[in-house]
Amino acid sequence: MILTRRRLLAGTAALGACAALPRTARAADGAVTLAAAPARRALVGKGYPETDVWAYGGTVPGPALRFRQGDAARIAFTNDLPEPTTIHWHGLRVPNAMDGVPHLSQTVVPPGGAFHYEFALKDAGTFWYHPHANSAQQLARGLSGAFVVEEREPPRVDRDLLWVLGDWRLDKQARLTDDFGHPMDGSHAGRLGNTPTLNGAIVEEVAVRAGERLRLRLVNTANARVFGLDFQGHAPQVIALDGQPVEPHPVAGRLVLAPGQRADLIVDMAGKPGERFDVVDSFYPRQTYRLTRLAYGAEAPLRDSPLDAPVRLTPNPLPAPDLAAAVRQDVVIEGGAMGRLPNGMRMTPEGPFWALNGEAPMGHDLKPLITVKRGQTVAMQFVNDTAWWHPMHLHGFPFQVLKRNGAPVARAEWRDTELLPPQGTAEIAFVAEEAGDWMLHCHVLEHQEAGMMAVLRVS
Ligand code: C2O
Ligand code: CU
Repeated sequence: MILTRRRLLAGTAALGACAALPRTARAADGAVTLAAAPARRALVGKGYPETDVWAYGGTVPGPALRFRQGDAARIAFTNDLPEPTTIHWHGLRVPNAMDGVPHLSQTVVPPGGAFHYEFALKDAGTFWYHPHANSAQQLARGLSGAFVVEEREPPRVDRDLLWVLGDWRLDKQARLTDDFGHPMDGSHAGRLGNTPTLNGAIVEEVAVRAGERLRLRLVNTANARVFGLDFQGHAPQVIALDGQPVEPHPVAGRLVLAPGQRADLIVDMAGKPGERFDVVDSFYPRQTYRLTRLAYGAEAPLRDSPLDAPVRLTPNPLPAPDLAAAVRQDVVIEGGAMGRLPNGMRMTPEGPFWALNGEAPMGHDLKPLITVKRGQTVAMQFVNDTAWWHPMHLHGFPFQVLKRNGAPVARAEWRDTELLPPQGTAEIAFVAEEAGDWMLHCHVLEHQEAGMMAVLRVS
């Protein structure tokens, strides 16, 4: 039973301060050095053994990489894992050779090997990084981190906090269960864990001060868990989704964050000294739990009324889709438990369980599903003909969401990962501005590895 174990495990966990995110090291030439290696981390807290994980920089999540818009990111990566890996810079507009997809844009980094990633930072925002080799297992073991590109003129806030959300499947000794790639996960909702974490720990309370304004950068690094967060007693404003600025607007009900997605929120701490408010995740019916609690310190409020300063972000310089000249492409998702595969394909315990437009690639034989010319606007419609949620992620090109389930969206919204509900549809558009082969896949990684991936070729 999902989360029962977490409650059990959490029962004796220490009162966690918000787990501090580590700083990054720089090589002599100024590049950020980053190594992936096995490590042991206290995920659950006091009274439980440490968990064997795979980690960037020895921590989970990995070090938050911070840069400024317009600068270049240079990352000297070394692989100290027992298997090959790569790094994908999720949501960032990078040249194809830096995109980190084995057999498509680079060769894998073997154990003991190194790779130098370097790219210009065109967009400001909240992004993240993770492996793209044996992804379902490598992410479930702990490999991921936040990647923040600061605006040249950021909005005024008192504190800028990262909340990297994770989800672990642990046994009673806080060990990762080794049922990676289980067909039950592949054909259903993916590897849902039993221990959701905030910055790699169970955080009972986050200390806040009355009157302060926070910028909260949320990143969902889970393999499969969708979060639906309710900030009780507070009225967060959404200022960016998937790193791309949006017209500031209040969270409608709860903030839904699918695997791969991010949100930037402005939260004014409207409570009184000493008060406590729950942050509740209620995405899955009957599995509501408290992710953490905002705990107001005893200090006098920082100010009497909310800060009167603009929160709107400057849009990133994304190319505008030319809808009149767009190439149109449907992407139809089929399969999964309670569904069927097209073209007489059969589900076997090894997969596939899913198909995109009747193709269910397993492994590396990826032929392009779509081929377009560089500079072309692509208008794509996702059709989810399954009983499951699918966060569809496109590499290389943030896309504008035009319609959801046939209805135009309320405000301009750019994303790199669009969550499709069961039987839902979404229409998106983007300019294929960089040449190369780019992945389009479900970010439930067990789905990706069981047929839900395709290639967009830009020539
Ligand atoms: Cu974050 Cu191809 O993925
Ligand atoms: Cu999926």
